[in-house]
Amino acid sequence: MSFATSRATQRLTVAKFGWKAQVQSLLEFSANAYVNEMGITSPLFPIENCPNALPGTCNDTVQDPEDDGTDVQLFADFMTFLAPPPRGSITREVRRGEKTFAIIGCANCHLPTLVTGRNPVRALNLKVLHPYSDFLLHDMGSLGDGIGGDQANATGTEAVAKRNEMRTQPLWGIRVPPRVDEDGGWGRTRPPATACGSRTPTPRSTASGNVRRSSAAVSLWR
Ligand code: HEC
Repeated sequence: MSFATSRATQRLTVAKFGWKAQVQSLLEFSANAYVNEMGITSPLFPIENCPNALPGTCNDTVQDPEDDGTDVQLFADFMTFLAPPPRGSITREVRRGEKTFAIIGCANCHLPTLVTGRNPVRALNLKVLHPYSDFLLHDMGSLGDGIGGDQANATGTEAVAKRNEMRTQPLWGIRVPPRVDEDGGWGRTRPPATACGSRTPTPRSTASGNVRRSSAAVSLWR
């Protein structure tokens, strides 16, 4: 599990958003994206994140915080209430894929079903969801991104995850994004066997094992 100090509450909180489970809430995720992706400061992130983390090298003339928090909150609300894409039609092949997905161990980390906690907002209260993730960090060995500790802090990411640790990526909606990017590779996602093959508790000594695993996943998400 990943813990990090929340900027909003100043308390140590479970963090489950972001590739390294380094972000505590969608509000902080929004504010983080505003400053790091668009250069817009806000009350939670009032200081510009300059290239190579060199302060003073990217000061614009606009007074900080550039957003008073209103936009960041609206963006967080949008993400909070955005439903995941629905599943495609459930055929026999899909059912078979789903079963294989569980049998070969993918569902150990990519948990098919979770229930939200109590929430004053009715739409979020005790809701069953199917994210295909446990939102926990796992030692992914050589599949880790190599970012961790001091290196992560230098880039402004408050990661507590180690270099080889990644958060289980939710798989909902994975059938929707485009399959091929402009380089001819896989768009947002990688082929399942490449993404997690070696972390699955089944032998992967044969190529056919990989193919079987991929096709299980493909039939599940189509
Ligand atoms: C030990 C836990 C674990 C197991 C078991 C596991 N995964 Fe994963 N999976 C992860 C983690 C962690 C990531 C994120 C890795 C990364 O970002 O490099 C991930 C990422 C993925 C992705 C990429 C999603 C994206 O949007 O980039 C796919 C697809 C995937 N897993 C499919 C599978 C399949 C199929 C299996 C079974 C063969 C499986 N996983 C078994 C933990 C696991």
